[in-house]
Amino acid sequence: MKILGIWGSPRKGGNSELLLDAFLQGAAQGGAQVEKVALRELKISPCLEIYHCFKDGTCPIKDDMRGLYDKLLSAQVVALASPVFFYGLSAQAKAMIDRTQALWSRRYVLKQDFPGGNRQGVLLCTGATKGRLVFVGCRLTAKYFFDAINVSYAAEILVRGVDAKGAILTKPETLTAATDLGRRLAQGEVLTPIKMDPLAV
Ligand SMILES: Cc1cc2nc3c(=O)[nH]c(=O)nc-3n(C[C@H](O)[C@H](O)[C@H](O)COP(=O)(O)O)c2cc1C
Repeated sequence: MKILGIWGSPRKGGNSELLLDAFLQGAAQGGAQVEKVALRELKISPCLEIYHCFKDGTCPIKDDMRGLYDKLLSAQVVALASPVFFYGLSAQAKAMIDRTQALWSRRYVLKQDFPGGNRQGVLLCTGATKGRLVFVGCRLTAKYFFDAINVSYAAEILVRGVDAKGAILTKPETLTAATDLGRRLAQGEVLTPIKMDPLAV
């Protein structure tokens, strides 16, 4: 069981990293082979709309995204952690997601065989404010990201009201929930996919 954690914040030791680490700690305890990818350390160009991927499902841009495609395809669980930036995911996370257009193309344009089955996706998101709509943009983007890589939208942990670095440590119950979730998924639990009404958060 491979569990991939993609961490999309530019702030080291920040809230989404602590949340992802709690999740991955549980996943490791549950016996998974865990890998954490820090997008802040990678060079990932935005999608340049070359549309080469519509021909053969690959992206011609030579950067660190090259190493990520296989990881996204071989993981049983893909967890995406990001802060809310202007009501969306971080630019680092969004650039990576846009580049999965190559995988979307394999599925929907070229109709190639694609890893699927019980693969699951998890969204871990942190935001400073407490409004009802804080996570709407992130959830919608995550929904279509998970669809592009063919994982179900299995779970989400959305944490409002955390702004300062490490503020999430004042919510130990949330970190425990993340650890429990990681452990359960590592142990093979298949969750009922979230039927997403992004406005109902
Ligand atoms: C550029 C920028 C934009 C932000 N936009 C929002 C926002 O739209 N809504 C919100 O609730 N918090 C917003 N925040 C606050 C972060 O989401 C919050 O501090 C989060 O916990 C940071 O997570 P991190 O420590 O993992 O980076 C923003 C922060 C930055 C730096």
